[in-house]
Amino acid sequence: MNSDLKNGVSRRNFMRILGAASAATTLPAFASQAPAAGAASRRGAGGMSDMGDMRAMRNPDTVIISSNENPLGPAKSALDAICTTAALGGRYHQEQSMETIKAFNQIFALPMPAMGKPGYSALFPGSGGPLDLALMSNIGPDKPLVYGDPSYEQGFRAADAMKAPKFPVPLTKTYAHDVKAMLAAHPSPGAYYIVNPNNPTGTMTPKADIEWLLANKPAGSVIIVDEAYHHFSNDESCIDLVAKDKDIIVLRTFSKIYGMAGIRAGFAVARPDLLQKFQTVSPAGRSLASISITSAAAARASLQDKDLVPLRRKINADIRSETLEFLAKKNYTVLPGSQANFFMVDVKRPGRDFGAAMMKENIAIGRSWPAMPNYVRVTVGTKDEMTKFQTAFVKCMDQTPGVVSAGAELHLPEYNAPSELYRGMYA
Ligand SMILES: Cc1ncc(COP(=O)(O)O)c(C=O)c1O
Repeated sequence: MNSDLKNGVSRRNFMRILGAASAATTLPAFASQAPAAGAASRRGAGGMSDMGDMRAMRNPDTVIISSNENPLGPAKSALDAICTTAALGGRYHQEQSMETIKAFNQIFALPMPAMGKPGYSALFPGSGGPLDLALMSNIGPDKPLVYGDPSYEQGFRAADAMKAPKFPVPLTKTYAHDVKAMLAAHPSPGAYYIVNPNNPTGTMTPKADIEWLLANKPAGSVIIVDEAYHHFSNDESCIDLVAKDKDIIVLRTFSKIYGMAGIRAGFAVARPDLLQKFQTVSPAGRSLASISITSAAAARASLQDKDLVPLRRKINADIRSETLEFLAKKNYTVLPGSQANFFMVDVKRPGRDFGAAMMKENIAIGRSWPAMPNYVRVTVGTKDEMTKFQTAFVKCMDQTPGVVSAGAELHLPEYNAPSELYRGMYA
């Protein structure tokens, strides 16, 4: 581990923020159940989180850099919070969620809800659920969805579910959302979906562009900004625009930098009337807001852990830079500008075939997008994982394209499966 990572962070804090691997040695309740440090770093301390991992479980040495998870897992502060709240789990506690919402609102200077009134933020198990509610409560057969291409598939999947017309808009030359073209795409859409940083490109859309779209969009439409990967970037969030009562909904997750993909926590941030509109989607939407007290406590502990985000952002940026430097030196083409925990690389053949070849080397990489079929998305893992990735990548690039054929498809349940579970399957 790079020693300058510890700048400004004491060794104790450093280990605390790194999370599960160190927690297993200090928390008796976890010690018997936590995977060994190596396994924790391979698939996050939460363990198996998708079908790719399930396949990889057959070989515990498989490097899993496919679903933009955080190999560090939850911070020790989050694990401590889970341990202390788990014992209270026999009852339906509202307090844990309320305290977490209060902490979030304080950090983002959002108005506190008056007693019994809806506020400006709502806590959910993950951000995928509230993202669906944000999309579905604003689109429909006469309210199209405008979104970037390539981008995260949950946008157009929600449009399909709601029978809303879809208007994909190619990204700009610098892989930002093209807000001018998005505005021109339709005179009265229900929603514009902007993923920032974008998944799969990792690139940023300047906040000024989002503000321009807010100022120029037709009345009655909303902008949905998905900030799942925001913490990895150095850019400004759009959450302050919510406090200014704009037509904007921002989504945040604890699945990425906070390493809690399997624990599940996320926020929807919007004007109270926009959050209340979520309830129009279906009565089932209401139960979505029911988050476990352990997840709520872990989310709050993570939010209050001041060193966590800067340290993990730096760890990710350092390993990403080292990996990209290696690829550039070998003359491979990487899509420039990623500020996230993943990047795209041109493999000069269908990404699916390349993924199958990498899987044979025990490296599970991410999927391709129809707009860029020869690029694959790769998650930034640990230093050790990325060293293994580099060796396998060179080996697979040196193979003649077409020699590996994809194996049988795995079929996933359609219900409530996040887009990260729909990635190319290389059985
Ligand atoms: C852009 C984006 N939004 C939302 C999500 C949903 O994540 P979660 O439900 O784990 O918060 C993901 C998951 O990978 C994502 O990539």
